Amino acid sequence: MSHSVTRALFDQVMVPNYAPAQFIPVRGEGSRVWDQDGREFVDFAGGIAVNSLGHCHPALVAALTEQAGKLWHVSNTLTNEPALKLAKYLTENTFAERVFFSNSGAEANEAAFKLVRKYASDHFGAEKHEIVSCKSSFHGRTLFTVSVGGQPKYTEGFAPVPGGIRHVEYNSIESLKAAISDKTCAVVVEPVQGEGGVLPASREFLEAARALCDAHNALLVFDEVQTGVGRSGSLYAYMEYGVTPDILTSAKSLGGGFPVGAMLTTEKVAKSFGVGTHGSTYGGNPLACAVAHKVLEIVNTPEVLAGVRAKSQRFVDGLNAINAKYGVFKEVRGLGLLLGGVLTDAYAGRAKDFMLAAERHQLMALVAGVNVVRFAPSLVIPDADIDEGLKRFEAAVAEVVGQTA
Ligand SMILES: Cc1ncc(COP(=O)(O)O)c(C=O)c1O
Repeated sequence: MSHSVTRALFDQVMVPNYAPAQFIPVRGEGSRVWDQDGREFVDFAGGIAVNSLGHCHPALVAALTEQAGKLWHVSNTLTNEPALKLAKYLTENTFAERVFFSNSGAEANEAAFKLVRKYASDHFGAEKHEIVSCKSSFHGRTLFTVSVGGQPKYTEGFAPVPGGIRHVEYNSIESLKAAISDKTCAVVVEPVQGEGGVLPASREFLEAARALCDAHNALLVFDEVQTGVGRSGSLYAYMEYGVTPDILTSAKSLGGGFPVGAMLTTEKVAKSFGVGTHGSTYGGNPLACAVAHKVLEIVNTPEVLAGVRAKSQRFVDGLNAINAKYGVFKEVRGLGLLLGGVLTDAYAGRAKDFMLAAERHQLMALVAGVNVVRFAPSLVIPDADIDEGLKRFEAAVAEVVGQTA
Protein backbone atom coordinates (compact mmCIF):
# COMPACT_ATOMS: atom_id res chain seq x y z
CA MET A 1 0.00 0.00 0.00
CA SER A 2 1.38 3.45 -0.80
CA HIS A 3 0.81 6.33 1.59
CA SER A 4 1.09 10.09 1.18
CA VAL A 5 2.88 10.21 4.54
CA THR A 6 5.69 7.74 5.10
CA ARG A 7 8.33 6.99 7.72
CA ALA A 8 10.96 8.28 5.25
CA LEU A 9 9.43 11.74 5.60
CA PHE A 10 10.50 11.74 9.26
CA ASP A 11 14.14 11.77 8.21
CA GLN A 12 13.50 14.64 5.80
CA VAL A 13 11.52 17.02 7.97
CA MET A 14 12.16 16.20 11.63
CA VAL A 15 15.06 17.12 13.90
CA PRO A 16 16.90 13.79 14.28
CA ASN A 17 16.64 13.54 18.10
CA TYR A 18 14.28 10.54 17.94
CA ALA A 19 14.57 7.19 16.18
CA PRO A 20 10.93 6.10 15.84
CA ALA A 21 9.83 2.65 14.71
CA GLN A 22 9.48 2.00 11.00
CA PHE A 23 5.69 1.62 11.18
CA ILE A 24 3.33 4.55 11.69
CA PRO A 25 0.34 3.94 13.96
CA VAL A 26 -2.88 5.52 12.74
CA ARG A 27 -5.59 4.18 15.04
CA GLY A 28 -5.94 2.76 18.53
CA GLU A 29 -8.69 1.16 20.56
CA GLY A 30 -8.13 -0.10 24.11
CA SER A 31 -4.80 -1.93 24.09
CA ARG A 32 -4.69 -2.53 20.35
CA VAL A 33 -3.14 -0.24 17.76
CA TRP A 34 -3.24 -0.40 13.95
CA ASP A 35 -0.60 0.94 11.57
CA GLN A 36 -0.98 2.47 8.10
CA ASP A 37 -1.08 -0.99 6.55
CA GLY A 38 -3.75 -2.27 8.93
CA ARG A 39 -1.30 -4.39 10.93
CA GLU A 40 -2.63 -4.78 14.46
CA PHE A 41 -0.34 -4.48 17.50
CA VAL A 42 -0.86 -5.30 21.17
CA ASP A 43 0.24 -2.28 23.20
CA PHE A 44 2.38 -3.07 26.26
CA ALA A 45 4.08 0.34 26.00
CA GLY A 46 1.14 2.64 26.64
CA GLY A 47 2.90 5.61 25.07
CA ILE A 48 5.59 5.26 27.79
CA ALA A 49 3.22 4.94 30.77
CA VAL A 50 0.82 7.56 29.42
CA ASN A 51 -2.24 5.84 27.94
CA SER A 52 -3.59 4.91 31.37
CA LEU A 53 -6.98 3.95 29.98
CA GLY A 54 -5.77 2.63 26.65
CA HIS A 55 -6.51 4.31 23.34
CA CYS A 56 -9.65 6.31 22.66
CA HIS A 57 -11.44 5.34 25.89
CA PRO A 58 -15.06 6.38 25.20
CA ALA A 59 -15.35 8.34 28.49
CA LEU A 60 -12.21 10.34 27.67
CA VAL A 61 -13.33 10.96 24.09
CA ALA A 62 -16.63 12.23 25.51
CA ALA A 63 -14.93 14.47 28.12
CA LEU A 64 -12.61 15.94 25.49
CA THR A 65 -15.25 16.53 22.82
CA GLU A 66 -17.71 17.98 25.33
CA GLN A 67 -15.10 20.49 26.53
CA ALA A 68 -13.96 21.14 22.94
CA GLY A 69 -17.45 22.43 22.20
CA LYS A 70 -17.38 24.79 25.20
CA LEU A 71 -14.05 26.50 25.85
CA TRP A 72 -10.51 25.66 24.70
CA HIS A 73 -8.23 28.18 26.30
CA VAL A 74 -8.30 31.35 28.37
CA SER A 75 -4.73 31.63 29.81
CA ASN A 76 -3.97 32.20 33.46
CA THR A 77 -5.15 35.78 33.44
CA LEU A 78 -8.46 33.99 34.01
CA THR A 79 -9.23 30.75 35.78
CA ASN A 80 -11.57 28.07 34.44
CA GLU A 81 -13.97 25.44 35.71
CA PRO A 82 -12.16 22.25 34.56
CA ALA A 83 -8.88 23.40 36.18
CA LEU A 84 -10.57 24.21 39.48
CA LYS A 85 -12.51 20.93 39.48
CA LEU A 86 -9.32 18.97 38.78
CA ALA A 87 -7.36 20.81 41.48
CA LYS A 88 -10.19 20.19 43.96
CA TYR A 89 -10.18 16.49 43.10
CA LEU A 90 -6.41 16.24 43.55
CA THR A 91 -6.44 18.05 46.90
CA GLU A 92 -9.34 15.93 48.17
CA ASN A 93 -7.67 12.67 47.18
CA THR A 94 -4.01 13.21 48.12
CA PHE A 95 -1.90 14.85 50.83
CA ALA A 96 -1.84 18.06 48.81
CA GLU A 97 -3.57 21.33 49.57
CA ARG A 98 -2.43 23.30 46.52
CA VAL A 99 -1.87 22.48 42.84
CA PHE A 100 0.11 24.04 39.98
CA PHE A 101 -0.64 22.82 36.46
CA SER A 102 1.89 22.35 33.68
CA ASN A 103 1.92 20.65 30.29
CA SER A 104 4.48 17.93 30.90
CA GLY A 105 6.44 16.05 33.52
CA ALA A 106 9.57 18.10 32.99
CA GLU A 107 7.63 21.31 33.55
CA ALA A 108 6.00 19.94 36.70
CA ASN A 109 9.49 19.10 37.97
CA GLU A 110 10.90 22.45 36.85
CA ALA A 111 8.20 24.08 38.97
CA ALA A 112 9.01 21.78 41.91
CA PHE A 113 12.76 22.47 41.72
CA LYS A 114 12.22 26.22 41.51
CA LEU A 115 9.76 26.07 44.39
CA VAL A 116 12.11 24.20 46.74
CA ARG A 117 14.82 26.84 46.11
CA LYS A 118 12.36 29.70 46.61
CA TYR A 119 10.90 28.18 49.78
CA ALA A 120 14.36 27.69 51.27
CA SER A 121 15.39 31.20 50.25
CA ASP A 122 12.22 32.67 51.80
CA HIS A 123 12.59 30.78 55.10
CA PHE A 124 16.31 30.12 55.57
CA GLY A 125 18.32 32.27 53.14
CA ALA A 126 20.19 31.78 49.88
CA GLU A 127 22.84 29.43 51.34
CA LYS A 128 20.24 26.68 51.65
CA HIS A 129 19.97 25.84 47.97
CA GLU A 130 21.39 22.35 47.43
CA ILE A 131 19.19 19.77 45.79
CA VAL A 132 20.01 16.13 46.54
CA SER A 133 18.94 13.71 43.83
CA CYS A 134 19.72 10.10 42.93
CA LYS A 135 22.11 8.57 40.46
CA SER A 136 20.32 7.05 37.44
CA SER A 137 17.23 9.16 38.12
CA PHE A 138 15.30 10.84 35.33
CA HIS A 139 13.28 14.01 35.78
CA GLY A 140 12.83 15.44 32.28
CA ARG A 141 14.76 17.21 29.52
CA THR A 142 14.82 20.90 30.45
CA LEU A 143 18.25 22.13 31.49
CA PHE A 144 17.34 22.16 35.20
CA THR A 145 15.64 18.76 35.11
CA VAL A 146 18.45 17.03 33.21
CA SER A 147 20.84 18.52 35.78
CA VAL A 148 18.85 17.19 38.72
CA GLY A 149 18.53 13.90 36.85
CA GLY A 150 21.25 11.40 37.63
CA GLN A 151 22.23 10.34 34.10
CA PRO A 152 25.26 12.35 32.93
CA LYS A 153 24.66 11.42 29.26
CA TYR A 154 21.71 13.85 29.21
CA THR A 155 23.79 16.90 30.20
CA GLU A 156 26.77 16.13 27.96
CA GLY A 157 27.33 19.00 25.54
CA PHE A 158 24.87 21.30 27.29
CA ALA A 159 27.21 22.99 29.77
CA PRO A 160 27.13 25.24 31.66
CA VAL A 161 24.31 23.55 33.56
CA PRO A 162 22.65 24.69 36.80
CA GLY A 163 24.74 23.96 39.89
CA GLY A 164 24.04 23.19 43.54
CA ILE A 165 22.95 19.61 42.83
CA ARG A 166 24.37 16.48 44.48
CA HIS A 167 23.74 12.91 43.43
CA VAL A 168 23.56 9.95 45.82
CA GLU A 169 23.23 6.20 45.31
CA TYR A 170 19.57 5.21 44.96
CA ASN A 171 18.41 3.10 47.89
CA SER A 172 21.57 3.86 49.90
CA ILE A 173 20.69 5.50 53.21
CA GLU A 174 24.42 5.93 53.96
CA SER A 175 24.99 7.80 50.71
CA LEU A 176 21.99 10.05 51.41
CA LYS A 177 23.16 10.73 54.97
CA ALA A 178 26.60 11.70 53.68
CA ALA A 179 25.18 14.20 51.15
CA ILE A 180 22.40 15.88 53.10
CA SER A 181 23.25 18.91 55.24
CA ASP A 182 21.74 22.15 56.43
CA LYS A 183 22.52 23.53 52.96
CA THR A 184 20.07 21.03 51.45
CA CYS A 185 16.78 22.57 50.35
CA ALA A 186 15.29 19.35 48.97
CA VAL A 187 15.71 15.66 48.33
CA VAL A 188 14.18 14.48 45.05
CA VAL A 189 13.26 10.82 44.55
CA GLU A 190 11.32 8.66 42.10
CA PRO A 191 9.49 5.99 44.15
CA VAL A 192 10.33 3.65 41.28
CA GLN A 193 13.14 4.70 38.95
CA GLY A 194 11.45 4.35 35.58
CA GLU A 195 13.93 5.37 32.90
CA GLY A 196 16.72 4.25 35.23
CA GLY A 197 15.68 0.59 34.93
CA VAL A 198 12.28 0.07 36.64
CA LEU A 199 13.92 -0.09 40.03
CA PRO A 200 11.65 0.33 43.07
CA ALA A 201 12.83 2.28 46.10
CA SER A 202 13.04 0.36 49.33
CA ARG A 203 10.59 1.47 52.00
CA GLU A 204 13.55 2.06 54.35
CA PHE A 205 15.16 4.44 51.86
CA LEU A 206 12.04 6.55 51.46
CA GLU A 207 11.44 6.58 55.22
CA ALA A 208 15.04 7.64 55.81
CA ALA A 209 14.69 10.37 53.17
CA ARG A 210 11.60 11.66 54.98
CA ALA A 211 13.34 11.62 58.39
CA LEU A 212 16.53 13.24 57.07
CA CYS A 213 14.56 15.98 55.29
CA ASP A 214 12.70 16.72 58.53
CA ALA A 215 15.96 16.80 60.51
CA HIS A 216 17.51 19.29 58.05
CA ASN A 217 14.48 21.46 57.24
CA ALA A 218 14.57 20.20 53.67
CA LEU A 219 11.58 19.38 51.49
CA LEU A 220 10.96 15.89 50.16
CA VAL A 221 9.95 15.81 46.49
CA PHE A 222 8.54 12.66 44.90
CA ASP A 223 8.67 12.58 41.14
CA GLU A 224 5.61 10.46 40.36
CA VAL A 225 5.48 11.38 36.69
CA GLN A 226 5.87 7.70 35.77
CA THR A 227 4.50 6.00 38.92
CA GLY A 228 1.45 8.20 39.43
CA VAL A 229 -2.26 7.88 38.73
CA GLY A 230 -2.87 4.27 39.59
CA ARG A 231 0.16 2.71 37.95
CA SER A 232 1.48 1.40 41.29
CA GLY A 233 -1.88 -0.07 42.35
CA SER A 234 -2.55 3.00 44.53
CA LEU A 235 -3.51 6.43 43.19
CA TYR A 236 0.08 7.54 43.87
CA ALA A 237 3.00 5.32 44.84
CA TYR A 238 3.65 7.33 48.02
CA MET A 239 0.41 5.80 49.33
CA GLU A 240 1.78 2.35 48.58
CA TYR A 241 4.92 3.14 50.62
CA GLY A 242 3.20 5.10 53.40
CA VAL A 243 5.74 7.95 53.08
CA THR A 244 4.30 11.39 52.34
CA PRO A 245 6.31 13.99 50.41
CA ASP A 246 6.03 17.79 50.62
CA ILE A 247 5.83 18.08 46.85
CA LEU A 248 4.70 15.51 44.27
CA THR A 249 4.84 15.81 40.51
CA SER A 250 2.45 14.04 38.17
CA ALA A 251 2.05 13.90 34.38
CA LYS A 252 2.03 11.01 31.86
CA SER A 253 -0.95 8.83 32.99
CA LEU A 254 -2.71 11.92 34.39
CA GLY A 255 -3.87 12.95 30.95
CA GLY A 256 -4.28 9.46 29.53
CA GLY A 257 -2.65 10.76 26.32
CA PHE A 258 -3.61 14.42 26.54
CA PRO A 259 -0.61 16.57 27.58
CA VAL A 260 -0.93 17.72 31.19
CA GLY A 261 1.23 17.86 34.30
CA ALA A 262 0.70 18.87 37.89
CA MET A 263 2.76 19.78 40.90
CA LEU A 264 1.04 19.06 44.19
CA THR A 265 2.12 20.55 47.50
CA THR A 266 1.05 21.84 50.88
CA GLU A 267 -0.40 25.27 51.60
CA LYS A 268 2.69 26.26 53.59
CA VAL A 269 5.13 25.44 50.79
CA ALA A 270 2.86 26.82 48.06
CA LYS A 271 2.99 30.26 49.67
CA SER A 272 6.50 30.73 48.27
CA PHE A 273 5.04 30.79 44.75
CA GLY A 274 3.36 34.19 45.11
CA VAL A 275 1.89 36.12 42.19
CA GLY A 276 4.40 36.53 39.38
CA THR A 277 6.99 34.04 40.68
CA HIS A 278 6.23 31.26 38.19
CA GLY A 279 3.78 30.52 35.42
CA SER A 280 2.80 28.85 32.15
CA THR A 281 0.56 29.96 29.29
CA TYR A 282 -1.06 26.58 28.82
CA GLY A 283 -0.91 25.22 32.39
CA GLY A 284 -4.46 24.49 33.54
CA ASN A 285 -5.80 24.41 29.98
CA PRO A 286 -9.53 23.50 30.07
CA LEU A 287 -9.25 20.66 27.53
CA ALA A 288 -6.35 19.04 29.39
CA CYS A 289 -8.01 19.44 32.79
CA ALA A 290 -11.38 18.09 31.64
CA VAL A 291 -9.66 14.94 30.36
CA ALA A 292 -7.42 14.54 33.43
CA HIS A 293 -10.38 14.87 35.78
CA LYS A 294 -12.17 12.06 33.95
CA VAL A 295 -9.02 9.91 34.01
CA LEU A 296 -8.81 10.30 37.80
CA GLU A 297 -12.50 9.59 38.33
CA ILE A 298 -12.13 6.30 36.46
CA VAL A 299 -8.71 5.22 37.75
CA ASN A 300 -9.22 6.14 41.40
CA THR A 301 -11.81 3.44 42.06
CA PRO A 302 -11.35 0.24 44.05
CA GLU A 303 -12.14 -1.86 40.95
CA VAL A 304 -9.51 -0.27 38.70
CA LEU A 305 -6.82 -0.14 41.41
CA ALA A 306 -7.47 -3.77 42.41
CA GLY A 307 -7.41 -4.58 38.70
CA VAL A 308 -3.92 -3.06 38.39
CA ARG A 309 -2.65 -5.38 41.15
CA ALA A 310 -4.29 -8.46 39.62
CA LYS A 311 -3.07 -7.61 36.12
CA SER A 312 0.42 -6.94 37.48
CA GLN A 313 0.47 -10.44 38.95
CA ARG A 314 -0.76 -11.94 35.67
CA PHE A 315 2.04 -10.11 33.84
CA VAL A 316 4.73 -11.15 36.33
CA ASP A 317 3.56 -14.78 36.26
CA GLY A 318 3.54 -14.75 32.46
CA LEU A 319 6.99 -13.17 32.20
CA ASN A 320 8.39 -15.60 34.77
CA ALA A 321 6.93 -18.53 32.81
CA ILE A 322 8.61 -17.26 29.62
CA ASN A 323 11.81 -16.76 31.57
CA ALA A 324 11.67 -20.32 32.93
CA LYS A 325 11.88 -21.53 29.31
CA TYR A 326 14.43 -19.11 27.89
CA GLY A 327 16.44 -17.79 30.87
CA VAL A 328 16.80 -14.25 29.56
CA PHE A 329 15.96 -12.36 32.74
CA LYS A 330 17.87 -12.11 36.03
CA GLU A 331 14.77 -10.71 37.60
CA VAL A 332 11.31 -9.35 36.80
CA ARG A 333 10.76 -6.26 38.96
CA GLY A 334 8.67 -3.14 39.34
CA LEU A 335 5.44 -2.07 40.92
CA GLY A 336 1.90 -2.48 39.63
CA LEU A 337 1.84 -2.04 35.88
CA LEU A 338 5.33 -0.56 35.61
CA LEU A 339 7.37 -3.71 35.11
CA GLY A 340 10.84 -4.53 33.87
CA GLY A 341 12.67 -7.69 32.89
CA VAL A 342 16.34 -7.29 33.78
CA LEU A 343 18.46 -9.11 31.20
CA THR A 344 20.99 -11.72 32.28
CA ASP A 345 24.68 -11.12 31.60
CA ALA A 346 24.43 -13.21 28.42
CA TYR A 347 22.04 -10.60 26.95
CA ALA A 348 23.53 -7.54 28.64
CA GLY A 349 23.10 -4.36 26.61
CA ARG A 350 20.53 -5.95 24.27
CA ALA A 351 17.18 -4.65 25.59
CA LYS A 352 16.55 -2.90 22.29
CA ASP A 353 16.93 -6.18 20.37
CA PHE A 354 14.06 -7.60 22.43
CA MET A 355 11.95 -4.51 21.81
CA LEU A 356 12.57 -4.65 18.06
CA ALA A 357 11.84 -8.38 17.95
CA ALA A 358 8.59 -7.69 19.83
CA GLU A 359 7.68 -5.12 17.16
CA ARG A 360 8.21 -7.76 14.44
CA HIS A 361 5.73 -9.93 16.35
CA GLN A 362 3.26 -7.04 16.55
CA LEU A 363 3.81 -6.17 20.16
CA MET A 364 4.73 -2.70 21.38
CA ALA A 365 7.16 -2.86 24.33
CA LEU A 366 9.74 -0.46 25.82
CA VAL A 367 13.26 -0.44 27.12
CA ALA A 368 14.55 1.26 30.28
CA GLY A 369 18.25 1.68 29.62
CA VAL A 370 20.14 -1.00 27.72
CA ASN A 371 19.54 -3.89 30.14
CA VAL A 372 15.84 -3.73 30.97
CA VAL A 373 12.82 -4.54 28.81
CA ARG A 374 10.00 -2.41 30.19
CA PHE A 375 6.23 -2.78 30.11
CA ALA A 376 3.83 0.05 31.01
CA PRO A 377 0.47 -0.90 29.50
CA SER A 378 -2.99 0.55 30.00
CA LEU A 379 -4.22 0.13 33.58
CA VAL A 380 -7.38 -1.47 32.21
CA ILE A 381 -5.79 -3.75 29.64
CA PRO A 382 -8.08 -6.78 29.22
CA ASP A 383 -6.63 -10.06 30.51
CA ALA A 384 -7.06 -11.52 27.00
CA ASP A 385 -4.77 -8.78 25.64
CA ILE A 386 -2.18 -9.48 28.35
CA ASP A 387 -2.21 -13.16 27.38
CA GLU A 388 -2.01 -12.42 23.65
CA GLY A 389 0.78 -9.87 24.19
CA LEU A 390 2.75 -12.33 26.30
CA LYS A 391 2.36 -14.96 23.56
CA ARG A 392 3.84 -12.49 21.09
CA PHE A 393 6.58 -11.56 23.55
CA GLU A 394 7.50 -15.21 23.92
CA ALA A 395 7.83 -15.47 20.14
CA ALA A 396 10.08 -12.38 20.21
CA VAL A 397 12.24 -13.85 22.97
CA ALA A 398 12.52 -17.12 21.07
CA GLU A 399 13.65 -15.16 18.02
CA VAL A 400 16.36 -13.27 19.94
CA VAL A 401 17.54 -16.40 21.75
CA GLY A 402 17.54 -18.32 18.44
CA GLN A 403 19.67 -15.64 16.82
CA THR A 404 22.12 -15.90 19.65
CA ALA A 405 22.45 -19.67 19.54
C1 LIG B 1 10.06 10.09 36.42
C2 LIG B 1 9.95 11.04 35.26
N1 LIG B 1 9.99 12.35 35.48
C3 LIG B 1 9.87 13.23 34.48
C4 LIG B 1 9.71 12.83 33.17
C5 LIG B 1 9.59 13.84 32.07
O1 LIG B 1 8.27 13.93 31.64
P1 LIG B 1 7.94 14.63 30.24
O2 LIG B 1 8.57 13.81 29.18
O3 LIG B 1 6.43 14.65 30.19
O4 LIG B 1 8.52 16.00 30.30
C6 LIG B 1 9.67 11.46 32.90
C7 LIG B 1 9.54 10.99 31.50
O5 LIG B 1 9.88 9.91 31.16
C8 LIG B 1 9.79 10.54 33.97
O6 LIG B 1 9.76 9.23 33.75
